[in-house]
Amino acid sequence: MSRSLTSCLSQALALFASCLSVSAAQSSTASLWPLQSYKSSSIQTPFMNVTKMGQTEPGYLFLTPKDVIRGNGYPTIYSDDGQLVWQGSSANYSALQPQMLDGEPVIALWTGYAGKGFGWGHISILNSSYDEIHRVTLNCKEQNFVTGLEPMEFDSCIDIHESQFTDNGTILVTAVNVTQANLSSVGGPKDGWIQDGLVYEIDIKTNEIVFRWSALENLDEVPLSDVYAPLGGSGVNKTDPYGYPHLNAVYKYGDDYLVSSRYMCSVFFIAPNGTLNWHLHGRTGGDFHLGIGASFCYQHDVRFESQTPERVTLSMHNNDNTDFTGATSLTTGLVLDVELQGSKKVTVKSRVWDADEPVYAQSQGSYQVLGNGHTLQDHGATPKIEEYDENGRIVMRARFGYDNTMQTYRVYRYPWVGRPSTKPSVVACPSSKSRKTAVYVSWNGATDVQSWKVLSGSQVKHTAVRNGFETTILVDGLSQKDQVVVEAVGGVIDGVRSESVTIGQGC
Ligand SMILES: *[C@@H]1O[C@H](CO)[C@@H](O)[C@H](O)[C@H]1NC(C)=O
Ligand SMILES: *[C@@H]1O[C@H](CO)[C@@H](O)[C@H](O)[C@H]1NC(C)=O
Ligand SMILES: *[C@@H]1O[C@H](CO)[C@@H](O)[C@H](O)[C@H]1NC(C)=O
Ligand SMILES: *[C@@H]1O[C@H](CO)[C@@H](O)[C@H](O)[C@H]1NC(C)=O
Ligand SMILES: *[C@@H]1O[C@H](CO)[C@@H](O)[C@H](O)[C@H]1NC(C)=O
Ligand SMILES: *[C@@H]1O[C@H](CO)[C@@H](O)[C@H](O)[C@H]1NC(C)=O
Ligand SMILES: *[C@@H]1O[C@H](CO)[C@@H](O)[C@H](O)[C@H]1NC(C)=O
Ligand SMILES: *[C@@H]1O[C@H](CO)[C@@H](O)[C@H](O)[C@H]1NC(C)=O
Repeated sequence: MSRSLTSCLSQALALFASCLSVSAAQSSTASLWPLQSYKSSSIQTPFMNVTKMGQTEPGYLFLTPKDVIRGNGYPTIYSDDGQLVWQGSSANYSALQPQMLDGEPVIALWTGYAGKGFGWGHISILNSSYDEIHRVTLNCKEQNFVTGLEPMEFDSCIDIHESQFTDNGTILVTAVNVTQANLSSVGGPKDGWIQDGLVYEIDIKTNEIVFRWSALENLDEVPLSDVYAPLGGSGVNKTDPYGYPHLNAVYKYGDDYLVSSRYMCSVFFIAPNGTLNWHLHGRTGGDFHLGIGASFCYQHDVRFESQTPERVTLSMHNNDNTDFTGATSLTTGLVLDVELQGSKKVTVKSRVWDADEPVYAQSQGSYQVLGNGHTLQDHGATPKIEEYDENGRIVMRARFGYDNTMQTYRVYRYPWVGRPSTKPSVVACPSSKSRKTAVYVSWNGATDVQSWKVLSGSQVKHTAVRNGFETTILVDGLSQKDQVVVEAVGGVIDGVRSESVTIGQGC
């Protein structure tokens, strides 16, 4: 930067304009985050820069990196050494969450049309072979959804924000219905347009709706006066409805529903008959009294850490920022004790942030409670992941993009065993420098291959320890036009072989 500026200044004035445009081009190239690419696969994925300061919990990182500049997104799994494990095909993704279904680990993954802060799509349930075994949909026509994008039509009206299973074979999701409401109390028209926030519980296998709750239908309990998002000229028509209440997290505890509203800075606990059991407001307290530091707003990923009849302990990713507030408040992982009876006091149990590299996150994010008191925080539009230990000390920092160039809605850490239904992918190239052949092998989605065996004819030529997503194996004694096959050794799908490839092809 300083070098190009100096050389700019030394140019004749007539050349100054063109010199500036070169330096602008250089800086935009510099802001493109590097991608990892491979010889044996066409996959490209953001370079994951992991720094560890301590012991992390076991498990892989599940995320949906969206490349804002290059304009594509993928569901991915990474290991803690920054290596890609799996990448799915390119589309709009959100709400990816590994979970258990019928005792088997699966991935729930939202796909669809992403609008401004919400969307319309379905949730795919993938098994450990990354094949879709169920597709959860919410029929837009049957439910009379209005999207504001008519005449465009969608098959399924599940929103981008949630994909949480219950113990009962159902899934909790959010949805947005564009409808009319009296916006006078917030300075809008009395026949204004609004994004109603809905919660659905849906049977995963039959798509039967088990529960529905609408914020707008409960305005007496969750009034517009509790919303902390300015109207900002919205709400006058169907294509720009007011963004109330922006629901972004749902969980079921017993028979009741925990719901997070970003623009209301609120957490609701809703009974099965739709009545509000309680309302915690992050600025005013709602039904509670906020203690020192217990304020929160625009939060994500609210969950109970524990629950008794007297007290709940809540964890959340407290952005405390939005695009209309600007990046002014420090974002933290926040845990609150909420006294449900007596004092109704809300106190801070813990709060974590990365003091060396603080984040002022403007959108999205998650905060997962792991084992051994560890927690995992993701910062959404700031592509940074942090893990903290039981004392709130940072033990891992991972970056996969520059701010606002790459993002992921949430990040989860979970154990996973992948059993890809594909074969290992191989390219074998003669080396120009030595007489060896470089054999490149990868297997998208495989987690536990120990080593790779290179065979030519029936002869084993070499065995090499697996090294990340793609392993490079230098093999002696092969000649141009020979055929090689690579076999996986170890792991749950031990012994699977690649197709036979000809040396020199695809290099
Ligand atoms: C990775 O992160 C470390 C620690 O922040 C930093 O020193 C290093 O330059 C980064 N590497 C790349 C290639 O960005
Ligand atoms: C992704 O969403 C955008 C709108 O934000 C839409 O134009 C595009 O068609 C969507 N892609 C898919 C695969 O649905
Ligand atoms: C995943 O589902 C596919 C399609 O139903 C099936 O062929 C495959 O065996 C399943 N994989 C596992 C590990 O169950
Ligand atoms: C959406 O709003 C329309 C009225 O504008 C209503 O008829 C319809 O039932 C609503 N749909 C849902 C899913 O709430
Ligand atoms: C709209 O709301 C305002 C303020 O709450 C109220 O005074 C007015 O009567 C309402 N108008 C209609 C048509 O409901
Ligand atoms: C809807 O309102 C927005 C903002 O008020 C405006 O920019 C847009 O043009 C309007 N759209 C239509 C179809 O009237
Ligand atoms: C689970 O499903 C059963 C049968 O549909 C139902 O009776 C029960 O209330 C459900 N439990 C919860 C916690 O939703
Ligand atoms: C709904 O359930 C709550 C909590 O169980 C109860 O207090 C309330 O009376 C019920 N409301 C109605 C209208 O049945």
